[in-house]
Amino acid sequence: MAFFFVFLFTAVCILVSLAVLLYSSRQKRRSAVGQDQELMLPPGSMGWPYIGETLQLYSQNPSVFFASKQMRYGDIFKTHLLGCPCVMLASPEAARFVLVTQAQLFKPTYPPSKERMIGPSALFFHQGEYHLRLRRLVQGSLGPDALRALVPDIESAVASTLGAWDGHVASTFHAMKRLSFDVGITTIFGGLLDSRHKEDLRRNYSVVEKGYNCFPNRIPGTLFYRAVQARKRLREILGEIVADRRARGDQGSDILGGLMRTRDGTAAALTDDQIADNVIGVLFAAQDTTASVLTWILKYLRDYPKLLEAVKAEQMATYEANEGGKRPLTWAQTRGMTLTHAVIMESLRMASIISFTFREAVADVEYKGFLIPKGWKVMPLFRNIHHSPEYFQDPDKFDPSRFKVSPRPNTFLPFGSGVHACPGNELAKLEMLVLVHRLVTSYRWEVVGSSDDVEYSPFPVPRRGLRAKLWKEEGDGVVQRGAA
Ligand code: HEM
Ligand SMILES: *[C@@H]1O[C@H](CO)[C@@H](O)[C@H](O)[C@H]1NC(C)=O
Repeated sequence: MAFFFVFLFTAVCILVSLAVLLYSSRQKRRSAVGQDQELMLPPGSMGWPYIGETLQLYSQNPSVFFASKQMRYGDIFKTHLLGCPCVMLASPEAARFVLVTQAQLFKPTYPPSKERMIGPSALFFHQGEYHLRLRRLVQGSLGPDALRALVPDIESAVASTLGAWDGHVASTFHAMKRLSFDVGITTIFGGLLDSRHKEDLRRNYSVVEKGYNCFPNRIPGTLFYRAVQARKRLREILGEIVADRRARGDQGSDILGGLMRTRDGTAAALTDDQIADNVIGVLFAAQDTTASVLTWILKYLRDYPKLLEAVKAEQMATYEANEGGKRPLTWAQTRGMTLTHAVIMESLRMASIISFTFREAVADVEYKGFLIPKGWKVMPLFRNIHHSPEYFQDPDKFDPSRFKVSPRPNTFLPFGSGVHACPGNELAKLEMLVLVHRLVTSYRWEVVGSSDDVEYSPFPVPRRGLRAKLWKEEGDGVVQRGAA
């Protein structure tokens, strides 16, 4: 599947790269900062014509590819991937330059078929005024007050996820995907969505997901074709939900309510298509990301039994304060889970599930004496920064205690940075805290088979999504069912 995607992207980008090659053969360039001077492209190799270094990237672990490039060429280097000339940036300053201080010179860029599948009006494809306006609407329903009110819903989603897993072997990643989908639905629709609409959304969304990475085509029966059909049904279902809400006249303070609100300065109300694209966009951004990190957290806790004991001690204190889980967890309690929070931060760093992001230069840009030509892709490499011994001592060691002191500015970017930084980061962390609380206070789990290989789905997760058996701990956390 990845291979099909490679060919698609290659086709799209060949024209761009030919144009760029012709253009960049002219040596004298005017940079965006306006000086007339000789600028050099960054060091690096472009690989073969057209396919560039795509095969090298896909024939090995991508982290190894990036790390070996960085070793050879330094923090800024060029390459040619998926048919596109790219500049990769592996320093915190460069990431800040692209994502924060000069963000207006670098626009978001995604393969067109993916953009269409999620929805072209979703905020992460945009720049400028439309993007800012949508961001405000989405962020408004993800602030501290909204999150405080969501704690009970997240708790019950966690309880039902773990309850369904209790007593058998399952893929951790799949269980966590179900959880992050449910939490996404609750955040978007409040508690207001009926279960029929929810199930229709879940099932059709999973068809969309299966075709998302496939080669675009119009042949009935293929995963891609089915995904396009399911995407149309999602649009219809969301249309119904929006119409229901309008008819009832109550807009709600959830994300959908925010998107439907009309009296927001002078701007016209969003169309139903724009609303649907953004709802699907948020679900998409929220699900696999959070589920992948949660899967890593379960793995790390299993790999470090002493750490697990310490996390358990921290969580048992809260559990007992709540009379053995009889009283609901509060927002304030989640704020006090210091060690668990450090475990989450360290898992985000170690796993770096978003290894890098893509932007495209909208003009010739000069950075540190190098030219980044207009039209080239620009990739800040988060994983390289997170695994550099310059910023994180002994970077391949899992050590939550390193977060006792804050990382240096721009060195820890699991949620990105700048105008497109993740608006769901606090929600994601809250969800992870609540999951860990319930998991370690009420359950035990055992990993089945080896878990040391990594697979990409599309974010890195342990092999087969970390298959594990989960069971309820009886009594006060000592008796273990099935222990011989
Ligand atoms: C551990 C889980 C998560 C991780 C690691 C993560 C990471 C990221 C990153 C790195 C970006 C920036 C991408 C870029 O600059 O190209 C981003 C953007 C985004 N994330 Fe998350 N995210 C997570 C969970 C969530 C959740 C739960 C939500 C929704 C409630 C969410 C919604 C979004 C949205 C809407 C954007 C686009 C923002 C924009 O373009 O302005 N994310 N996320
Ligand atoms: C998708 O949603 C429709 C309602 O629009 C529903 O009838 C159908 O069962 C769902 N499809 C799948 C594959 O679950």
